[in-house]
Amino acid sequence: MKHATLLPFLSILVVTAVGILLAQNPEANAPYKNPKLPVEQRVEDLLRRMTPQEKAEMLSGSGWMESQPNARLGIPAIRMADGPMGVRNWVGSSAITNAASTAPVLATAFPASIGMGASWDVELVQREGQVIGQEVKALGRDMILAPTVNINRLPLWGRNFEGYGEDPYLAARMGVAYIKGVQSEKVIPSVKHFAANNAEFERHRIDEKIDARTLHEIYFPAFQAAVQEAGTWAVMSAYNKVNGLWCAESPFLLSETLQKRWGFQGFVISDWGSTYSTAPTVAAGMHLEMPGGEPMRIWFAKPETQKSGNGAGWLGADKVLAAVAAGQLKQEAVDDGARRILRVMFTAGLFETSRTRGGEVDTPEQRALARRAATESIVLLKNEGGALPLGAPKISSVAVIGPSAAIARTGGGGSSLVRPKYSVTALDGVKEAAGAQVQVGYALGVSMQGEDVSKETPEARAELRNEAVDLARKSDAAIVVVGYSYKLESEGFDRPSMDLPAGQDELIEAVAAANKNTTVVIVAGAPVTMTKWIARVPAVVQAWYGGQEAGHAIGDIVFGVQNPSGKLPVTFPKQWADSPAYGHYPGENLHVTYGEGIYVGYRGFDKRNVEPLFPFGHGLSYTKFDYSDLKITPAAVAAGKQVEVTMRVRNSGSRAGAEVVQLYIHDVKSSVDRPVKELKGFRRVVLTPGQTQSVSFTLDQSALSFYSGAKDEWVAEPGAFEVWIGASSRDVRLKGTFELAP
Ligand code: BGC
Repeated sequence: MKHATLLPFLSILVVTAVGILLAQNPEANAPYKNPKLPVEQRVEDLLRRMTPQEKAEMLSGSGWMESQPNARLGIPAIRMADGPMGVRNWVGSSAITNAASTAPVLATAFPASIGMGASWDVELVQREGQVIGQEVKALGRDMILAPTVNINRLPLWGRNFEGYGEDPYLAARMGVAYIKGVQSEKVIPSVKHFAANNAEFERHRIDEKIDARTLHEIYFPAFQAAVQEAGTWAVMSAYNKVNGLWCAESPFLLSETLQKRWGFQGFVISDWGSTYSTAPTVAAGMHLEMPGGEPMRIWFAKPETQKSGNGAGWLGADKVLAAVAAGQLKQEAVDDGARRILRVMFTAGLFETSRTRGGEVDTPEQRALARRAATESIVLLKNEGGALPLGAPKISSVAVIGPSAAIARTGGGGSSLVRPKYSVTALDGVKEAAGAQVQVGYALGVSMQGEDVSKETPEARAELRNEAVDLARKSDAAIVVVGYSYKLESEGFDRPSMDLPAGQDELIEAVAAANKNTTVVIVAGAPVTMTKWIARVPAVVQAWYGGQEAGHAIGDIVFGVQNPSGKLPVTFPKQWADSPAYGHYPGENLHVTYGEGIYVGYRGFDKRNVEPLFPFGHGLSYTKFDYSDLKITPAAVAAGKQVEVTMRVRNSGSRAGAEVVQLYIHDVKSSVDRPVKELKGFRRVVLTPGQTQSVSFTLDQSALSFYSGAKDEWVAEPGAFEVWIGASSRDVRLKGTFELAP
């Protein structure tokens, strides 16, 4: 009885309570909030609930490094940070965050990507990506603007240090590994900059003329692999124009290539200030314009920003909605952008996790990885008469000299520069590695160009140099640590030449004259001119920018605590004029033609028969490796089938070491002009003395193909192919042949 009378009253209560709740949060029980449902279902459910205004709002940022949140629907902002060498400060532009005055974000600084490329260690790069992903989360961010997979087309590019080198296959392997590592932590990567951002000169305005074959064979593969092999969640478009259109509004790049040809499902983010229109940009397949909101407006109003040619502020909701209303833009294009961003956000779990800053970064494991990476990145370029490794009892004193000896230069300049909690200088690393029996002296020798003008007068220079020479003369060996700084090699401008900064060549020459046992260690992201002194020094080490642990790595390599195993991911030319891109840069009237076409890097040196200073793939070890037993099966392969290649590598020296075995394909006869050789496989093998290991490679049709402009597709032509196995691109040890059947 009682129950019967209470029931209507209770149900009114419940209905009212639910009503109040729903009024406060109408989407509380919406399917999109349910993490158990499939991502696509959640995306479509949420899209259905969004107003046109809300969808349009998704297409532009709310701040310097944040996308727009939506409080009504509980859509969080995507919080970003720059990479690729670690997590960088996100409060503003490079100019702001590189300045000493801002409160820095301190994170593990890994070697420059060019050094990671020099490791040829795919597993290491994947692990690096994963650790960076962990640090992104620990710092309360969701997305890392990395990796950079642009090809190092010319030695002068200010951002060479940020890419993985000149070869599309190597860059693809490294980019894929990095992305897999980042995404394994549910952090959003953003492979960049699509496409052909290969110079800083007028990067906002330059129009690059590049033929289709060159795009597909050289500048696209790393992006294609990022999409198809790593399933990257985001791609950043480049500043420059390609064939007449800005990358941010190029239907050819964004919708035809990225989406239709490669099947990209994620979102495209603009580079910071790379948009110049509303309807054409959204319609082309640009989904998120950055930066946005007030920070963008303040930055964009600055005369420097305008002067440099940046474009911004085109994808704000008002402009997007107006374009739709005016019939210039289809609503579906706006929906597609919102859909793609939401898809990634659901996939990355951003609706379920709210990351807050305060987690642990730079843990002992992360530091150890940074040290291993720095060690593996180092390339021993020259070692005449076994000058290296140094150490007792061979020597009892060493002079450490140079502008990069007592200052740790962890990275190049610009948006990738990470502030580590600490950094190890080469001098400290040498002291540790040399041990108590070796006395270590230090002299500056020359100050880094532009760092202290009082030390740059002719008199001051002479005094510094003399001091260094005196120290070198009375020491058993000398190590001269030279190179660039983040102010001289940086995003934003190209290097004026390949030459070392002022006074460094003279320093090396003077020290080498005083001490025959001189090692030059180069800290730079790209090749430097060495012709003036290379014949006069027995040993040269390329250390790149090695991140926070670089000093330990340099000490360990020079003193033989570790065995060098890095190999060049770029050709080192004797001079800039030898580069295939010479004469095709920087162009005229803001137009540049990539006239060398597919002949970039070693492809160009081979084609024109130019002797490099050090070839692509070159790097010495303290042990020796013998190559043997090349087997290729089958001898005749049917179209579409795979070829198995095996060989054996033996450590025939007396200490443990790692060798990077490289596989190049040489197409014997082709209907089109093809490079003499193209890298299509590599393996990094770690061997103890006397140990032999069998190495195998699988070649599929893509390894044999060229891109046919006429057919607009990849073509593997029947006929003979040679497999060249080398310790570098110019040290081919084994050759074999197989036929591709018609
Ligand atoms: C760079 C990007 C970077 C962005 C945000 C741009 O200037 O080209 O690589 O991610 O700034 O800092």
